[in-house]
Amino acid sequence: MGIFATRESSVRSYCRSWPAVFDRAAGSWLYDTSGRAYLDFFAGAGALNYGHNNPALKAALLDYLAGDRVIHSLDMHTVAKREFLTTFDELILGPRQLDYRVQFPGPGGANAVEAALKLARKATGRTQVITFTNAFHGMTLGALSVTGGSFHRGGAGLPLTHATPMPFDRALDGPMADFAWLEYLLDNRGSGLNDPAAVIVETVQGEGGIRVARPEWLRELAALCQRHGILLIVDDVQMGCGRTGPFFSFETAGIQPDMVCLSKSIGGFGLPMALTLIRPDLDIWQPGEHNGTFRGVNPAFVTGTAALRSYWRDDKLERSTRAAGQRVSAALAALAESVPGTAIRTRGRGLAHCLAFANGELAGKVCTAAFERGLLVETAGPDGEAVKLMPPLTVTDAELDQGLALLADAVRSVC
Ligand SMILES: Cc1ncc(COP(=O)(O)O)c(C=O)c1O
Repeated sequence: MGIFATRESSVRSYCRSWPAVFDRAAGSWLYDTSGRAYLDFFAGAGALNYGHNNPALKAALLDYLAGDRVIHSLDMHTVAKREFLTTFDELILGPRQLDYRVQFPGPGGANAVEAALKLARKATGRTQVITFTNAFHGMTLGALSVTGGSFHRGGAGLPLTHATPMPFDRALDGPMADFAWLEYLLDNRGSGLNDPAAVIVETVQGEGGIRVARPEWLRELAALCQRHGILLIVDDVQMGCGRTGPFFSFETAGIQPDMVCLSKSIGGFGLPMALTLIRPDLDIWQPGEHNGTFRGVNPAFVTGTAALRSYWRDDKLERSTRAAGQRVSAALAALAESVPGTAIRTRGRGLAHCLAFANGELAGKVCTAAFERGLLVETAGPDGEAVKLMPPLTVTDAELDQGLALLADAVRSVC
């Protein structure tokens, strides 16, 4: 492992939590060079909803590669992109009666967020963006400006401006009405708040420690945006593509955001792809005004299309995700209750769950103990206090039970 320590930047992080050299992967499993198997309940932070090397997706990719088809194409028309857009239209947007223009803003989630923020400002002529406590939207400067965590914000090297944080759902634990402060600022000409261009929100905060917004809170947020002419951006980079059950995480609330950011599992196979979905009348970009070299990674179009065709023709995956989520939720609640003397809370929706400990030290120790037992889980939350569970959506019940048992053993060894 010497080359990593001597040559790779000190910014590396996941490899510090999981000190192994991984080589092969299949479904919910990763294997290191010694052949040791690890159950992957991190799933590329949501980039591997369909598991590692999913056979249906791999077959489509191998076929594409074998045919010497176009790999890199900037934003030129290709057959792979046409099939992706047609399939996305047919299986995702159409059945949900959603009408969005699709922008390919660059390969990662932060690219999707940057494009949404830029377009919201361009379309409204306003600069301010409302964000929420514990939000995470990525590491580029615009995305970082709407991200809450002080550790990551500190890495910016310059002031992060034009973003106003507000309490996320239940952040104040109910002592005041959820939007009382925001409404007060918006309604009061003397409040000092510049008219916001947009609100950006995650329906379930992933990096923020699996904090789940209630559907009624999201509906109230959407109504407030409408009343004040503020654009609503849902960042579905981590919770989209079925992570919480439905394809879009906001479907549960029945809201229609003005823009949606998607990445991670939209490429299906762990290949880079991101989308910014835009209400058609807001698509006022000049050609090339938001540009980038990697906006057309055709292998990702191919595996993304195969994923949609394999898993989103019906509601089978959505139903199995909800059922698996209930299994995880019940197991975590029982585990939390069974550990005397340590207050552990559980949160989650679909297949995004966490055990929230009193502090980050405990959670970190649990993740280390889990790794020693062959389970990959990571911490999340402002103090790293939550142990986050995000297995692939294709995980089997037996794998779920096995992972939950390893986690229980890890918790008991620490607490
Ligand atoms: C909600 C959310 N938005 C944006 C991002 C940034 O995505 P990327 O790391 O691909 O830039 C992430 C990454 O975890 C995320 O969880």
